[in-house]
Amino acid sequence: MDASYSRREVIALACKLIEKWTGFELRETAPQRIAETFEQRAQLLGYDTPISYLKGLRDLPSTAEEPQRLVNLITNGLTAFWRDEPQLSALRSVLCHLDAGPPAIHPIQVWCAGVSTGEEAYTVAMIADEEGIGVDVLGTDINTDFLATARRGVFDEWSLRRLSPNRRRTYLRPLEHSRWRAEHRAFENLRFAHHNLMDPAPSSRHPDGKWDIILCRNVLIYFSPTTTAKALRHMSDALTRDGYLMFGSSEQVDPQRLGPSAPDLRPIRKGGGFLYRPGSVQTGRTIEPGRWHFEDSQSLPPVETTRDLGSLEETTSDVRDNRTVIDLLYTAKDHLEKGDRELTIACLEAALVYDPFQVECHCLMGVVLRSLGASQQALESFQKALFLAPHHWFAAHHTASILAERDDIDGARRAYLRVLKSLERDEDPLESTHVLRDVIGTVSRIEHGARQQAENFLQTHRER
Ligand SMILES: C[S@@+](CC[C@H](N)C(=O)[O-])C[C@H]1O[C@@H](n2cnc3c(N)ncnc32)[C@H](O)[C@@H]1O
Repeated sequence: MDASYSRREVIALACKLIEKWTGFELRETAPQRIAETFEQRAQLLGYDTPISYLKGLRDLPSTAEEPQRLVNLITNGLTAFWRDEPQLSALRSVLCHLDAGPPAIHPIQVWCAGVSTGEEAYTVAMIADEEGIGVDVLGTDINTDFLATARRGVFDEWSLRRLSPNRRRTYLRPLEHSRWRAEHRAFENLRFAHHNLMDPAPSSRHPDGKWDIILCRNVLIYFSPTTTAKALRHMSDALTRDGYLMFGSSEQVDPQRLGPSAPDLRPIRKGGGFLYRPGSVQTGRTIEPGRWHFEDSQSLPPVETTRDLGSLEETTSDVRDNRTVIDLLYTAKDHLEKGDRELTIACLEAALVYDPFQVECHCLMGVVLRSLGASQQALESFQKALFLAPHHWFAAHHTASILAERDDIDGARRAYLRVLKSLERDEDPLESTHVLRDVIGTVSRIEHGARQQAENFLQTHRER
């Protein structure tokens, strides 16, 4: 390693930047790999040292090209139509309650913050349509790739797995390759925009710019207490006085624990789910016996953050991977062997929360998603792996074959070329994996198949 900078400095600066751009606190992340990612990007972009690259990044807004690429890499966007039925039933009852209120609030303004590829916002529009309620829905996200998918409105079977056949027929139109396009007048008032929860909220179409309902589900789990408080403040400032704020059902948000800058929010039960409203929380309040303890220990286990730099030097030199991630990888493998792919994905998602730089997790996620027909999400996973490990022949091979299936001949040609180039190298990226090799079968056979497919494809589709 270049003596002009310390790896500790790189890691500290990288973590600080990631938190500033996204609000994320990287938990128990293998610091070695953060440094490697930034070292590799620095080299690729011609910087003398990773520190000069990082210092260059520090002066850029998070929406500039390189920070945005890193943000797109780090953010995890798994979502689905009709995700979390109890919360949706709470949302339905709130929509009905607001609809019965004064005409001045119509159409009801709903903001889905951290909407990922859009399924959540389309679901809100469907629920409102089923109830005959007028809504304006804005879906926002920090990840520009996710937003492009949301705007395209084309989804695969995996995204639709929780949607009833009836709703599927009503709101979507079948396309080729088991894909569906969201197409219904219910989506006329649905918009998507880029927004970072570290910034003040976007404006609604109400004259005062406020929102009647804000959904922010499965987003704040990645944030530090300070950035959670900041995001909550932005959301609560943007709510109408009688507005509702909704998180995911497995998320416990206790503003009292977040310090004085967190807004006052009070949990309420509605339908089978729960929401928050502006106002003070009652300490120790339990919403339902055994389930929603707001002062008890339902939160995630305490996490060590990479900002505790005391023992980092040894950590970076001795330990390549962190135990939590490896345990989660093995648990994912167990679930996969038992045929439970939803649980497999949940474990991989959790592993990526701890370490978004884990190439093996991205590859395994890609393999599982692909087996479920979620080719778009699988493609994104393999592309993330390739961003982190540009010579990963296995990720390049999946990327190529997904692109070929979609008749993206140029993209597939580039990816197949990358397969051949990567296979020529001495280093095999699969050598250091923990479970991937066991999951995919005989590596030499797969490698042989990848080489053959690449050669055949390039032979058939010579550059014009
Ligand atoms: C796991 S997805 C949740 C999607 C959807 N809300 C759901 O529950 O199905 C989390 C999303 O939050 C987004 N996100 C993370 N940090 C963000 C930030 N600072 N500002 C806006 N969106 C963010 C990610 O890009 C990702 O799409």
